[in-house]
Order: sequence, then C-alpha cells, then structure tokens
Amino acid sequence: MGKKFHFVCRSCGHEIDGFEEWFANGQKCPKCGDNKIYTVYHTDKNKLNELINSDEEPSSLWHYFDFLPLEHKENIVTQGEGATPIERWDIFEDYAKRKYGLNLQVYVSRNDLSPGTHTFKDKGASLAASVLKEHGIKEYVVASTGNTATAFAYYLAKAGISLTVFMPEDALDENAAHIGALGQKVCIVRGDYGKAKRVAREYAQKHGILISGGNLDPLRLEAKKTQAFEIKRQLGRMPDVYIQAISGGTSPFAMEKAFHDFGDILGKMPRMLLCQGDKCAPQAEAWEKAKAAGFPEGWENDYPVYENPKAIVPTLATGKPVLYPFMARLVKRSDGEIFAVREEIAVDIARLVAYEKVIRIGPASAVGLLGFFEALHRGYIHDGETVYINMGEGYERAYSFLRDVAYTMQYILGSEECPRHDRSSYKPKIWEVFDNYEKYSTLP
Ligand SMILES: Cc1ncc(COP(=O)(O)O)c(C=O)c1O
Ligand SMILES: [Zn+2]
Repeated sequence: MGKKFHFVCRSCGHEIDGFEEWFANGQKCPKCGDNKIYTVYHTDKNKLNELINSDEEPSSLWHYFDFLPLEHKENIVTQGEGATPIERWDIFEDYAKRKYGLNLQVYVSRNDLSPGTHTFKDKGASLAASVLKEHGIKEYVVASTGNTATAFAYYLAKAGISLTVFMPEDALDENAAHIGALGQKVCIVRGDYGKAKRVAREYAQKHGILISGGNLDPLRLEAKKTQAFEIKRQLGRMPDVYIQAISGGTSPFAMEKAFHDFGDILGKMPRMLLCQGDKCAPQAEAWEKAKAAGFPEGWENDYPVYENPKAIVPTLATGKPVLYPFMARLVKRSDGEIFAVREEIAVDIARLVAYEKVIRIGPASAVGLLGFFEALHRGYIHDGETVYINMGEGYERAYSFLRDVAYTMQYILGSEECPRHDRSSYKPKIWEVFDNYEKYSTLP
C-alpha cells in the first residue's frame, strides 16, 4: 500500500497501490479493467481543518500537499497556481437587485490570475507534472480543446517531460502558438474534439505512452478539488450556488469529490448551476428533456451527441459527453440545473467585465459569467443567497476573442479626425444586452 494514499476502483472496489501500479496497468483497474478510480488518503482529515484555518497564506495548491497524491515534496512542479483570489463583485449584486429585486452576495474566482497559463487548468497540470516527475515518466499525451493542453505543455516542459498534444481543428490558434513555442508537439487533428481524442488514444497506444485520462483522471480531479478548500478558506463558508461553464465537467466532479470526502469540514455542496454554450450544449439539451419528462427511469443515460459542432467558443465544445450520466446524477443530487447560454453575447459580457471591473477575460469565462445572468432570468437563484462563479480563464490564449471584444479603434490620417475621449459615454451601450436580457435568454 502506498504511504500516503491509494486508489479504489469505482466499479469493483479493487484497491490499487498508487500511481506505479496504476500506470503499469495502462491506467485501468487490474481486476475489472475500468478506468474510473477514487483516491483515498491516509492522512487524518482534521489536518484539512488546520490547513484551511492556518495563518499561513497559501502560495499554491501545494498548501494542501497532505491531500494531493504525491509522495515527496521535492517533486513538486509549481508556478504558484491554485491560490488565486475569490472576489466579491458588487456590479453583479447591484444588477440582481435592480432587475430582479434579489439581495445576493456574488463571488467570482480569479483563475485568470493563475501565474502558469492563466486558467484553472494550471492546478491539474501542476499535479500531473509533479506526479509524472516522481515516477520518472518522460513522455505524455493529452487531447484537449486548448486550455488543458496549454497548461500541461507549460508544466511538463518545466519538468523536462515531452508532451504531444492533440487538438481539434477549431481550437483557438493561440493555444497552438503557446504550446509550440515551448517545444512541445502540437497535432491539430482535422475534425472535432471527439476525433482528436480518438487519434490521441491511438497514438498513445501505438507507442505505449501514458495519456491524460479525461474528466475523472485523479491527476486533474485531485488538484481541482482544492478549489473547494480555497472557497472555504477565503469565504469562511460554502455558497448556496456554484456556477460554471462546463465542457466535460472536471471541476464539478472534483467539487463533489471534495464534499464526499470532507463534507463535515466544508459544509453542504452548493447547488450546481452548470451552463454550456448553446452551439454545443448536449448536456443542457439532455437535462431539459429529462426535466420536462419528470426524470423518468434511465433518464441519465439519454443524451445527444453533436458531430462537428460549430461553436463560437470551441474551448467548451465537447459534442459527446460520455460522462453525462455521472454529471446528470451529480447535478440532480445537488438540486441544481444544466442549461444553455447564448454564445453570441459572450463578447458582450466580456466587454462589460472589461469596462466595469477592468479585467480582460477569455471566451470560456464569458460563458460561465453568462450562466449567472441566465440563472437569474430563469429563477434558479433565490433572495438572500450567496453565489460563487468559478470563472476559468483570462484572455491570454484568446487574442482573437479579445479583438472581437475591443470596440474603440479608428483609423485616422491626422489628429483632426480623432474626437475627444469620454470613457463613460460607453456605459449605456455596455449594459444594453443585460438590461434587456430576456431577449437573449435560451428559455424556449
Ligand atoms: C476556462 C474554462 N472554463 C470551463 C471549462 C470547462 O471545463 P470542465 O468542463 O472540464 O470542468 C474549460 C475547459 O477547457 C475551460 O478552459
Ligand atoms: Zn475494478
């Protein structure tokens, strides 16, 4: 048995010693062959209480080393990710009051400030690089719509590990540039994310290389669950509502893991209000259908598959959500909802946030923030509640999006063509979409 933790197969309960056995078995349970495992720590749970309440300000997710699946601290590969601030945003509170008469407390996590690659994917990449280093692994494969690939490329490069990335062809160009500049290999697969995943698996199998195992991979899940610890540490309590844009849904799975293991310390899991961009929203579509039918027997296994979705926000475009049955049950247990938001107004929310908060966000963050507006409109948030929005990314890998968000450029021949500038004159236009949000809701 590993010193600090071991795994338990989620299907048959077989115990797996640690990563050495897990990797040697091709990331499958040696008994039943399933690839879904649960990480169990041997550390006294009360240690988490101490860490959450300690006077020491965390410098990264490694503050929670005792509850991360790495044996030796000297193998840590970090850039200070996972301890970014969670801020209270009064502009969203004022809006909820003004338009819906609701008194809310709204908190937004600033993953855009993550020092590695400016997304919440840095946490998983830091853990993955550290564990791979601990096990002397020199080559790795990942399929991703962009942000995971960029984060893994960065952290694995820091650990001297070669990464081959498989991205769908609609992924934002900037990701390929970030990865390629670091000397990590980028293969842009002609086809959608589902195709990129298939090609990545084939390549990894052919050469016997380890591959990132998707939304339940302990390397990602265990790192991301520390966000629940950070919420408790920074807010002192749990919010009533958790909002996030999902693709496959790693973060909600990670949150559930945190609450399953440490519920007595963290409190009750918030209602999961999860949104998807409307151009690729198979989980939202499946949920709406099941809900309309009163969640009949077997409802969670019924979901559509989108082939080659034409998303405005490709970062979130998982057309075949194979873990939907698990996600759907999770959301139901939390008394939450899955719903779509209009990708056409991603640019508008990014403008609003850049104007009011002076923060430039990426497109997947824009979709997540739209989740707040859609949830308000649908009555999913109630008076007096505390809302937490897990905002995932900054603009750094999405300059093309930032160019669409920008709205003040003008070509001139001389100074006489340039009018005096009054920034406040933009304000009514900035709020127009949100003052009239009902026109943009995805509610049928
Ligand atoms: C910024 C951002 N938000 C949300 C998501 C969705 O993540 P998941 O569904 O894996 O939790 C992603 C995935 O790439 C992302 O990069
Ligand atoms: Zn098993």
